[in-house]
Amino acid sequence: MDLWDAIRNRRSIRAYKPDPLPRDTITRVLEAARLAPSACNKQPWHFFVVLDPAERAALKAAYNQDWFCRAPAIIVACAKPKQAWKRIDDVSYAWVDIAIAFDHLTLAAHAEGLGTCWIGAFKPAEVRRCLNLPDDMEPVAMTPLGIPAEPGNPPQRKPLSEITTWL
Ligand SMILES: Cc1cc2nc3c(=O)[nH]c(=O)nc-3n(C[C@H](O)[C@H](O)[C@H](O)COP(=O)(O)O)c2cc1C
Repeated sequence: MDLWDAIRNRRSIRAYKPDPLPRDTITRVLEAARLAPSACNKQPWHFFVVLDPAERAALKAAYNQDWFCRAPAIIVACAKPKQAWKRIDDVSYAWVDIAIAFDHLTLAAHAEGLGTCWIGAFKPAEVRRCLNLPDDMEPVAMTPLGIPAEPGNPPQRKPLSEITTWL
């Protein structure tokens, strides 16, 4: 799929078919995240692929939406802040790195004909409990992954003139 096609036509999907996904397809989607750039190439991330129905149901405690755990897979992106590059003022770039990797992942999923929806409004303590996360990992983003059952909403974006300053 053409990159512009993916950028223009990806939508957040909030309804999924239950069909299981081939492992190869999920692996390609993860590969797109793996190839993402990161500050100083630190790659301070870890991705959990939750396929087990009971594990997915348990994650509902972290994000209480049926459509979220009905998808055949949930991907959870965790930062490893201690491994991340830090700016001169000590600000960690872990979340920036995760955001880039996750955007790669969502675009690659779209190119595979799959839907995603970035989930940020989850309860981190519940994700930590469900996945038994070690202390050095911080959950940053989750997404269901599956065949879309609905097309998603039409895009609504601010015009370029409102969000740019040319000097
Ligand atoms: C950082 C981030 C966090 C988000 N968190 C949620 C969320 O918790 N729940 C949800 O339904 N959508 C969430 N979204 C999806 C946004 O609502 C969606 O991207 C936005 O409305 C634009 O729609 P589109 O993705 O279809 O273009 C999130 C998106 C981003 C980038």
